[in-house]
Formats: sequence, C-alpha cells, structure tokens
Amino acid sequence: MVLKPSLLLMIWLLTGITATKYDDFTYNGFNRTELYIDGVAEITPNGLLRLTNTTKSKQGHAFHKVPLRFKNTSDGNVYSFSTCFVFAIRPEHPDVSGHGLAFVLSPNEGFPGAMTNQYLGLFNSSNNGNSTNHVLAVELDTISNMEFGDIDDNHVGIDVNGLRSINAAPASYFIGKTGKFENLTLISGEPMQVWVDYSNQEKRLNVTISPISVPKPSRPLLSSLVNLSSVILDTMYVGFSSSTGSILTSHYVLGWSFKMNGQAAALNLSSLPSLPSEKHRRKLTSLIIWVALGVVVFIAITASCIAYIIRRKARYAEVLEEWELEHRTHRFSYKELFKATKGFREENLLGVGGFGRVYKGKLPTSKTEIAVKRISHDSKQGMREFVGEIASNSQLRHRNLVQLLGYSRRKGELILVYEFMSNGSLDKFLYDANKPTTLSWSQRLKIIRGVASGLLYLHEEWEQIVVHRDIKASNVLLDGEMNGKLGDFGLSRLHDHGSDPQITHVVGTFGYIAPELTKTGRATTSTDVFAFGVFTLEVVCGRRPIMQQESPDLHLVDWVWGSWRNGVILEVIDARLGGDYDVGEVELILKIGLLCSNPVRAARPTMRQVMQLLDGDLSLPEIPKDGRGITVSSPDHAEALEES
Ligand SMILES: *[C@@H]1O[C@H](CO)[C@@H](O)[C@H](O)[C@H]1NC(C)=O
Ligand SMILES: *[C@@H]1O[C@H](CO)[C@@H](O)[C@H](O)[C@H]1NC(C)=O
Ligand SMILES: *[C@@H]1O[C@H](CO)[C@@H](O)[C@H](O)[C@H]1NC(C)=O
Ligand SMILES: *[C@@H]1O[C@H](CO)[C@@H](O)[C@H](O)[C@H]1NC(C)=O
Ligand SMILES: *[C@@H]1O[C@H](CO)[C@@H](O)[C@H](O)[C@H]1NC(C)=O
Ligand SMILES: *[C@@H]1O[C@H](CO)[C@@H](O)[C@H](O)[C@H]1NC(C)=O
Ligand SMILES: *[C@@H]1O[C@H](CO)[C@@H](O)[C@H](O)[C@H]1NC(C)=O
Ligand SMILES: *[C@@H]1O[C@H](CO)[C@@H](O)[C@H](O)[C@H]1NC(C)=O
Ligand SMILES: *[C@@H]1O[C@H](CO)[C@@H](O)[C@H](O)[C@H]1NC(C)=O
Repeated sequence: MVLKPSLLLMIWLLTGITATKYDDFTYNGFNRTELYIDGVAEITPNGLLRLTNTTKSKQGHAFHKVPLRFKNTSDGNVYSFSTCFVFAIRPEHPDVSGHGLAFVLSPNEGFPGAMTNQYLGLFNSSNNGNSTNHVLAVELDTISNMEFGDIDDNHVGIDVNGLRSINAAPASYFIGKTGKFENLTLISGEPMQVWVDYSNQEKRLNVTISPISVPKPSRPLLSSLVNLSSVILDTMYVGFSSSTGSILTSHYVLGWSFKMNGQAAALNLSSLPSLPSEKHRRKLTSLIIWVALGVVVFIAITASCIAYIIRRKARYAEVLEEWELEHRTHRFSYKELFKATKGFREENLLGVGGFGRVYKGKLPTSKTEIAVKRISHDSKQGMREFVGEIASNSQLRHRNLVQLLGYSRRKGELILVYEFMSNGSLDKFLYDANKPTTLSWSQRLKIIRGVASGLLYLHEEWEQIVVHRDIKASNVLLDGEMNGKLGDFGLSRLHDHGSDPQITHVVGTFGYIAPELTKTGRATTSTDVFAFGVFTLEVVCGRRPIMQQESPDLHLVDWVWGSWRNGVILEVIDARLGGDYDVGEVELILKIGLLCSNPVRAARPTMRQVMQLLDGDLSLPEIPKDGRGITVSSPDHAEALEES
C-alpha cells in the first residue's frame, strides 16, 4: 500500500522527527496540503502553482513543507539529488520580459528581507553573494542585469549564494540528431521542463531544459563542477522563488518531482493542470469533430489570408485620440520608430529602467540618433493628463536637460523619443568597474554645475514650476563632451496617475528621498534639492547613497556629516581621483551637498542660492560642526526640529 503524503506529514508531525526519511515526492499539479507558500504565490483551484500574479514588484515563494536531510549524519557527505519540474512564464506583453524564477535550496522556508525585481525574491542588495546565505539556486532569468554580469535576457544559470551565476547559458536544448543546441524563449508562455541533477561523487551539477513536447535531452545545458558541501546544510528546504518588477508577468509551476540519492520520478505530463488561457474543450462526438474540422480548415485558410493582412497592419498599429491633436508635440508614427530601432532589436537595447526598456535608434530619413523609451502602461484615465504633461515638458529647452523629441502611443504602451546621449548614464562612470576611465575632478565639477543649472531652470526659469522627483546619478546622462543632462523629468508622475488615491506612495529612489517626503508624500522643489544634495555627495565620494558595504545601511549623507564633525571631511573623497583636485573646490561642493541634503527642510537652500554659491556670488553659511546631531535616517527627529 502506498501512503498518501498527507498521512506521512501527520506521522512526521506526531513523531516530531526534525527531518523526514521520506526524501522523494512527485506532484503532477499541487494542492495546499503539500506546499508552504508566501508572498503573492497561490495555488489555483485547478492545481497550478502560481508564484506571482500580475502585480508589480511582488515576490512569491513555494516550498515543500518538510525540510529534507541533505547530508549523511555519519560522514557529513552531501547526498546526491535530482529534481524535475515544469514551468511557464507568461508576460502580459508577449515581447517584453519581466523577471524570472528560480528553483532553490534554502535553509529557511522563505527569504526574509529579500527584494523583488532583479533579486528574484531570493536576496537583497546587502546579502547578495554572502556565503552565509547557504542558498543554491537554478535561475531561469529573463532580464539581463549588468550588475550581476548576466549574459543575456533569456538564460539559465547556476547561482551559489548570490545572483552572479557561476555558470550560465542562453536557454536552449540539445538535439541528438543534429548534435546542436536549439534556442528556447523562456517568456514564450509555453510550458517547459527542467531537470537539475547533482552527483556528490563527481561534485557535478547538471541543468537541462527542453520544451514539454521533447523528452530529456541527452546532453545537459549546464554542467558545472561545484562542491556543495559548504553551501548545503544538514537539512534544507526545496522550492521555488520568483518576483515581478514593473512589467507584469505571471510565473507558473505545473508539476514537480524530487528524489534524494536517485533519479527524480518522471512527471505525468498528461495529468498536469492546464494553464489559464486553455479553455476547457467539451467532449464532442467524433462526427461533430470531423464536421467541425472541415469547417475549421476552410475558415483557417480564409482567415490566414486575412490575418496576414491584419498582422501587417497590427504590427504598426497605434492609438490616436482626438485630444492629442491639440498638443504641439511631435508625434512619431510607430512604424517610423520600429524601423529606427530595427524592430526594437536586442542589439539596440541601451538599458532597462524602472519605467521600461530604452533602445537606441536612428531616424530613417534624417539619420538623427535617438533614444526610444517604451513604457507599458495600463491606466487609460491617466494617459490624457500624462501626455499633456509630456507635451508641455517637450517645450522645455535647456542645455542641461535631455531633450524630448516626441512620443508615440500604442494600446497599453507609451513611447518617448529623446535625443541620444552617447556617453550613457553617469552612474556607470561612477560605479561600473569595467569603465576604464575615471571621471576627473574638473569633469565632475562640470557635471554638478550642469545638473544644478538644469534643475534651476525646471524650478524657477520656465513658465511653470516643474518638480523633477527623481534626481539621481542614473538619471543624469552624458553627451559626447561629458556634459551632464538631466533625464526622465516628470516621468515619476506616471506612477501617480491612475493609481489608487487611498494609497499614498512615495515616488523617488531609495536613498534620495527627503525625510518629509515619506511623511507627506508630496514632492516639492525642496525634496528635489535634497536629492540634488545626495547626488552631489555621490559624485564627489564615488559612493552610492546607501552604503551597503558599511554597517547596517549607512546613509552617505550621515557618513559625510560624521566626517565633517570629526574634522576629516577630505577623507570622503573618491579615492580614484588620486588626490588630483582643488581642495577649496571640493570643500565647497561637499558643503553645498550637506546644506542641500539637510534633513530639516527649512535649512535647505533653493536652487537659485545653490547656483549663487557655485558661482561664488553668495558666501557659504556657517555649517555647524555639531550638525545638531541630526541624521537623515531619523526623520522623526528632523520633523520635531522643523516644528519647533
Ligand atoms: C491534496 O493532496 C493530498 C495528498 O497528496 C490528497 O490526499 C488530497 O486528495 C489532495 N486534495 C485535492 C483537492 O486534490
Ligand atoms: C495578487 O495577489 C495579491 C496578494 O495575494 C492580491 O492582493 C492581488 O489582488 C492579486 N492580484 C491579482 C491581479 O490577482
Ligand atoms: C552514510 O555514511 C556511512 C559511512 O560512510 C555509509 O555507510 C552510509 O551508507 C551512508 N548513508 C547514505 C544514505 O549514503
Ligand atoms: C537583507 O536580508 C537579510 C536577511 O536575509 C536581512 O537581515 C537584512 O535586513 C536585509 N537587508 C535589507 C537592506 O533589506
Ligand atoms: C555576510 O553575512 C554575515 C551575517 O549576516 C555578516 O556578518 C557578514 O559581515 C557578511 N559579509 C559580507 C562580506 O557582507
Ligand atoms: C540562439 O541564441 C543565442 C544567444 O541569444 C544566439 O547567439 C544564437 O544565434 C541563437 N541561435 C539560433 C539558431 O537562433
Ligand atoms: C552531467 O552531464 C555529464 C555530461 O553529459 C554526464 O557525464 C554526467 O554523468 C552528468 N551528471 C549528472 C549528475 O547527471
Ligand atoms: C569540498 O569542500 C569540503 C569543505 O569545504 C572539503 O572538505 C572537500 O575536500 C571538498 N571536496 C572536493 C572534492 O573538493
Ligand atoms: C498519467 O495521467 C493520466 C491522466 O490522469 C492517466 O490516465 C495515466 O494513467 C497516467 N500515467 C501514468 C504513467 O501514471
């Protein structure tokens, strides 16, 4: 007689054994009694494990409820293991990928403190890569993240304790007949099967993937020598993790089997639960089927002719409404942008930001180089207002603002066209170890002055006050002469429009957000000045606003304040400058940075005063050495001071 897993679970609970002896399982579809799930993960009524639903920046985990013993108690050797699962990734837009999913071994059920987006719900920016994590993951990664050295946006990787894979390959499977690997698209929405096999004798981990219609290929995609003895603890949980970012994606697991010291049982592919869009087909008699088939074939031939014509049209289809005609902004045709970016080809991808993907392009007629930002957008109601704002922003002209050239619109998608900035974003120069050149002091000073003057224009010199809302190094772009220009102004408003007014959510980037903004949720020119101050310190120190390497999340501003108080202000300067700078200038900039990033709002200067300070037209106010003991990390204190 075969014992049912739920009964086994009961026995396990009753006897209080810490690790089960029953080290294999097979699930052709799931139900709640078998898995521990958290976050947005759920088990659908028909037995699918849905790790993420279509909600932005969320994570979901699912684990086999019972921890498994992974080491032999008598000799401490790691056991060999084998697993096999079927998954599907369904993005909302067929050609835009969200983040991927991972099979994991973890010491805990769940990952407290883990982050969403590129962190896949596994790690966060401070513990990523730390050997105390004891996490093994096989990632099915659908976004290329430079910070983790990803090879592309469609790969399978082996991760030990962090997201920088020890081995990775573009998703593909081996075909014995041809002796070649055939490519797979992870985000195709089609179910695919993955096998993970570890042999402790060989210390080798193999990962194999194939479409569900293809049996296990004879050659694995990845085969790596990894000694897991220091990674794996005596008992571990096995399961899955996934997260979403700004692009809506659902991650499904349809079936899963696992076996310790042996080959995981094959899944019964015909009894796996079906994915949502598959409609239940009713049982028809064979006669009806044949008649229907005849009709279908006839219709299909006619339809495919029509479909071909429609597809050609749909490829370039856009949305144009009457109200848009009143704006003077240039509206590009989608076809033009499609051609300019060679069909939004991967080679043309400049980067992926919080708002969407940015492509390089060249306008077919004028040969002007452009940067094209595709933003997927679901709110209809906010669109009109937002396009109005974009239109008025395109009237903004300043040499330190990235010029918006126009836009285009399709269903659920807004496309913005900007001038092309050949040197990319400033943060790459500050942090990307692969950039051979370091910015000199005079270049840094020029960039800071440029950004200050662009921001002054937005705040005071245009007909309307424009609050940027997201000043940071990655939003400062550099042209061929290394002039800094502010990009993405006003885009953060996209988050506001159409979202639930009940939910106050702060827009901006962690580390640049002024303390009062978290309380009031209102972005002002003064919160921009705060972010500018942080940005200034960032450029001088060459460090991120939240200093991850330092003890718990030290804020750059607090750190510079500390050095100022201790009279060692020059110690904060980016070591890569090699001492090649003007001490007077550096001190001036650091003090301006401190003034601007003062947690007390009333103490911050305006951008006009900042410009005057930079030009030497205004003398620097005395900055109290004691700094009044305030820190950015304690907004309550700052607020109390402000009120008094
Ligand atoms: C859930 O799983 C348990 C154990 O495998 C099984 O006994 C039970 O019938 C399942 N329930 C459903 C609704 O499938
Ligand atoms: C996703 O899951 C969360 C939490 O379970 C839920 O609040 C939300 O409504 C779900 N969203 C959708 C679109 O199903
Ligand atoms: C555990 O190690 C002991 C001693 O080397 C060995 O005799 C035993 O077979 C091992 N057990 C398993 C399950 O591998
Ligand atoms: C990162 O995760 C660890 C635990 O996994 C947690 O202790 C820490 O607070 C988290 N850090 C951040 C910045 O969220
Ligand atoms: C790794 O994590 C441990 C425990 O959380 C911590 O003490 C240690 O400093 C971390 N190491 C690094 C290099 O971050
Ligand atoms: C498969 O994908 C890789 C990486 O994306 C690419 O270099 C290769 O040309 C593709 N092969 C085929 C046959 O499409
Ligand atoms: C991994 O793949 C290699 C090459 O096909 C094979 O020789 C080895 O036996 C495999 N190991 C496991 C654990 O499947
Ligand atoms: C694997 O690592 C363990 C502990 O780190 C070490 O004792 C063992 O010798 C290693 N085995 C191999 C084959 O490298
Ligand atoms: C697989 O599932 C189908 C449908 O549930 C069932 O008819 C068949 O017997 C199963 N096959 C095996 C090998 O268990």
